[in-house]
Amino acid sequence: MKNKEMKELFSYIANKYDLLNHLLSFNIDRLWRKKLVKLSHITGREFILDLCTGTGDIAIEFAARKLSVIGLDFSGEMLSIAREKIKKKGLNGKIHLIEADALELPLKSDCFHIVTMGFGLRNIESQEKTLREIHRVLNKNGKCLILEFVPPEKNFRGKIYNFYLTKIIPLIGALISGRKYSYRYLSSSVKGFYTPEKIIKFMENAGFINLKMYRLTSGIVYIFVGEKA
Ligand SMILES: C[S@@+](CC[C@H](N)C(=O)[O-])C[C@H]1O[C@@H](n2cnc3c(N)ncnc32)[C@H](O)[C@@H]1O
Repeated sequence: MKNKEMKELFSYIANKYDLLNHLLSFNIDRLWRKKLVKLSHITGREFILDLCTGTGDIAIEFAARKLSVIGLDFSGEMLSIAREKIKKKGLNGKIHLIEADALELPLKSDCFHIVTMGFGLRNIESQEKTLREIHRVLNKNGKCLILEFVPPEKNFRGKIYNFYLTKIIPLIGALISGRKYSYRYLSSSVKGFYTPEKIIKFMENAGFINLKMYRLTSGIVYIFVGEKA
């Protein structure tokens, strides 16, 4: 999907995004983000960039552990929700939000210890370009952590998940968000996304080393980790 349509989609569903996320994942999405933070092995001094931050949940997880975070997204509506949540949690001083395109980061090279992206890679216009940008802004030895859905596996559990993804999610999504198309897009984008092996290959091509992937919740979601040499 092109940048313009993507921005429009997220801006439209912004005020229902958190509710639908928690509802459709039975709240497991909270555990996935916590796992990502755990895998970042923070010591307390890192400077973090959370790309495609949306309503800010990953940025908030890090800031709650006293780290300074930049949350970046191109949807002003998603960032407004993030801003409200950050204020409510008293984390104003810890998170700085930037409205910008992740494909062309308005940030200097070599300045972050950690760059994270939760459910952004699948939605972005160019995976290769985004990964190159992440690599550019990371410090030497900096770490990139990507949390993302991958297509359903071909086993029995995968088939059940495929049914849920194809039939249930678009229905509940349409009822709550008021828009049929948005959650049909979620299903098709997950089903049509790259395999975990291909994502690792993209990271390798972007220059990342020490690549690892973690399979969560029967392979519904993966966390990909790589380091800048
Ligand atoms: C599925 S949401 C993920 C939000 C959040 N990271 C989470 O864990 O729930 C994807 C986000 O990516 C943002 N996005 C998509 N393409 C982008 C781009 N090129 N630049 C910046 N943000 C982008 C959308 O606006 C949306 O907020």
